[in-house]
Amino acid sequence: MYLIPMPEIFCGSDALEALDGVLTKAGASRIFIVTGPHISKTEGFEKMKSVAARNRAVAVFAETLGDPSMEQVAEMIAQAKTFKADAVIGMGGGSPMDASKVVAAALSNDRKVEDMIGADAVPKRCAPLFIIPTTSGTGSEVTNISILTDTKEQMKKAVVSNNILPYAAFLVPELTVSMPPRITSTTGMDAFCHATEAYLSVKKNPYSDGMALRALGLIFQWLETAYNEPENLEAREGMLMASFFAGLAFTNSSVTAIHAFAYPLGGRHHVPHGMANALMAGPVLNHNLKGNEERFADLAEAFCGIRDAAVLVPQVQTLKKNIGLPMSLAEAGIPENDLENMAEAVMGVTRLLAVNPAEITLADARRMYTEAYNGE
Ligand SMILES: [Fe+2]
Repeated sequence: MYLIPMPEIFCGSDALEALDGVLTKAGASRIFIVTGPHISKTEGFEKMKSVAARNRAVAVFAETLGDPSMEQVAEMIAQAKTFKADAVIGMGGGSPMDASKVVAAALSNDRKVEDMIGADAVPKRCAPLFIIPTTSGTGSEVTNISILTDTKEQMKKAVVSNNILPYAAFLVPELTVSMPPRITSTTGMDAFCHATEAYLSVKKNPYSDGMALRALGLIFQWLETAYNEPENLEAREGMLMASFFAGLAFTNSSVTAIHAFAYPLGGRHHVPHGMANALMAGPVLNHNLKGNEERFADLAEAFCGIRDAAVLVPQVQTLKKNIGLPMSLAEAGIPENDLENMAEAVMGVTRLLAVNPAEITLADARRMYTEAYNGE
């Protein structure tokens, strides 16, 4: 078993206090902060910035878009280089976190964004990189992956390298209470898929198994409460831990076909990542069930306390309904006449289909998109 190195982790209400010392230890003096327009206006951001700015110069890129494009990340890199940044902080949801990883990579590797796409295309360790999540889903704070959008090909592309692992991450439940209910539900379902897929992947191992099962229990316990009671700090902490554990699970195993099937929905129809995963979870899990009944029973038991392979999908569909998510591609506004294009596109996501526990043919892909369209 090989485990991906883990960043230093600081958890709790006062975790940001450690940021000053961590930046000093890393020798950071000019810090480029990547965030989004909403987060940049919050009290939590101001607090973080004031700690980062102690005896250090700080520049902020606050315009990160959802599903950041490779072009936008190239623009961030240009600004960070002009500023002569020697460290990067990514604060926000998956988009700023993922973008910040590639910015930090570009500061120590003289490579364009497109040349870092794929596996192990970042030769040197990134510049000191610190991550502060404000959503609970991507687990990006502990993963060696960054997802960007290729606008020309209308596809998500991944930078995968241990050299983009953050140096430290700060998990502060209070920073996640500003998440609107729709973001709570979609990001929470992203974490559900990370855990489930990591547990079923052909790359699974005892470590990823443990992390995945614990994440699922926390999601069942806290996601609905976090959705209904945004200020409930116990629920927010539970989901932050779930996202973190699920991140550790899939970075040490892998995601599989749910994420693969979600990519064309994001790339072609701009469906948010977590929602795309939630929409495809049912059909893909149903496809994967045969031959994997024991693993499904483990998942169901960890998730809802019932050791029965058949209950996992119905239980997650109920959760999705309770947290206000669309139950079909039709309901999400995806045109039926694009199902064929998406089925063809997903067959190209070989990196993820290759680690799925069951084989998927083009005919299977057509059927699964149709099931998702009809909400089956
Ligand atoms: Fe994901």
